[in-house]
Amino acid sequence: MSNSSHFTNKDRQYKAVFFETFGCQMNKLDAELSLGLLQEEGYRIVDKVDEADVILFNTCSVRQHAEDKVYSHLGALKTVKKRNPEVIVGVLGCMAQKDGESIFKRMPHVDLVCGTRMFSRLPELLLNIKNHGSHVLAVDEDQIVNVKRAVTFRPNFYQAFVTVMRGCDNFCSYCIVPYVRGREISRTIADIKEEAQALVSNGCKEVTLLGQNINSYGKGLAGGVTLGDLLSQLNDIDGLERIRFVTSHPADMSRDLIRTINRLEKVCKHLHMPAQSGSDQILERMRRGYTAGYYRDFISYARELIPHISVASDFIVGFPGETDEDFQKTVQLMEDVRFQNCFIFKYSPRTGTKAADLEDDVIDEVKRARNKKLLELQKGISLEENKKLIGTKVQVLVEGGSKSDPNRLSGRTRQNHIVVFNGSQDMVGRQIDVMIHEVTDLTLFGKPENYS
Ligand code: 5AD
Ligand code: SF4
Repeated sequence: MSNSSHFTNKDRQYKAVFFETFGCQMNKLDAELSLGLLQEEGYRIVDKVDEADVILFNTCSVRQHAEDKVYSHLGALKTVKKRNPEVIVGVLGCMAQKDGESIFKRMPHVDLVCGTRMFSRLPELLLNIKNHGSHVLAVDEDQIVNVKRAVTFRPNFYQAFVTVMRGCDNFCSYCIVPYVRGREISRTIADIKEEAQALVSNGCKEVTLLGQNINSYGKGLAGGVTLGDLLSQLNDIDGLERIRFVTSHPADMSRDLIRTINRLEKVCKHLHMPAQSGSDQILERMRRGYTAGYYRDFISYARELIPHISVASDFIVGFPGETDEDFQKTVQLMEDVRFQNCFIFKYSPRTGTKAADLEDDVIDEVKRARNKKLLELQKGISLEENKKLIGTKVQVLVEGGSKSDPNRLSGRTRQNHIVVFNGSQDMVGRQIDVMIHEVTDLTLFGKPENYS
């Protein structure tokens, strides 16, 4: 891939980069794309801050907690920088976009602030700092649609994420994403297909399409293309075995798309479709554009057509004005829908959003209690649902050694269950039938067919 022979040894020493990512999958993929670019420029990736010449944080702004964590990590770098003033410290991504110049004021030892639409210029920006000095601010409105991707550089050989659209136009009242990631912009089907094809030629078997609001994929593209069209085209790629997509918005989801998912054999029967709340009053104040009843009906339709489809959700607890009664409606929705898994978040006011004008009146103790209640409820549901799979055969795309026990293999079902089992190395990268004999709320354990 990279030809770094034109770099001198001194350059090479200089070019050790430490990269840490906070936040969502989109951020992780942006980090991967950035590192791919840097590697092609001759940078070497190191996993210890002390060994790095360039330290980069790809940041998240979705909740205050995520920002506090980055500022505390940055604060700790002050001593590193004192010891070695040559080190370059950079803040990338959502927090960089949002806080801009003020990051230099708060943390003068930071050299680079690079927003969400500028990271493809990283090599150039770093060179700029090296040659002309610190405090480079790059938060322009440059629209990045296509990032030249080093397809060989990805954390999992058999599985890859592909950005199909960036930004969000939905402006849910609590959410900072439209402000830090800008308006929706979709890549063309041809570009996405080319990237998926290149990944598959390199050994990849599963792609997960990423978009903050993926159901509105195609808006603004010629010919009125939709996510369904994109899925149909990708389904035709020889050698590609599985296609996933996240994140779905209930108001932008269509029944037509459910029929497409049903029809296309490579598309995994799994939806991540955040409900956020079960109370219509709260949903209205969140500006979500649907009611709990609409959400329930939609899931019923999807399950009627595809009985084994699995559904995951996000919920926010303690949104301004959320009463016990509102919360009870969320509990009820969770009990009724029986999600496969859920991510639960305590509401965190974000300056500049519509909800930030409302009083953050649910005290932290109540937020914590509601968070705990939903986590426990979901844990019970996940366990009960997983137990139903005991004695059944599931198909697993084997990703490699299990994180918790490298002697065992691990992979995912099409419904996105994690499966851990004893097997042989030659199973890695293949789809294997596994008989399930034990489960927790998070993991299925089993034995491959015909494996003693
Ligand atoms: N406070 C708490 N949670 C939030 N999310 C988005 N914005 C906020 C906020 N201000 C949650 C939503 C979203 C997930 C990625 O993060 O549930 O689906
Ligand atoms: Fe945020 Fe709503 Fe857009 Fe999702 S759909 S990124 S929650 S504004």
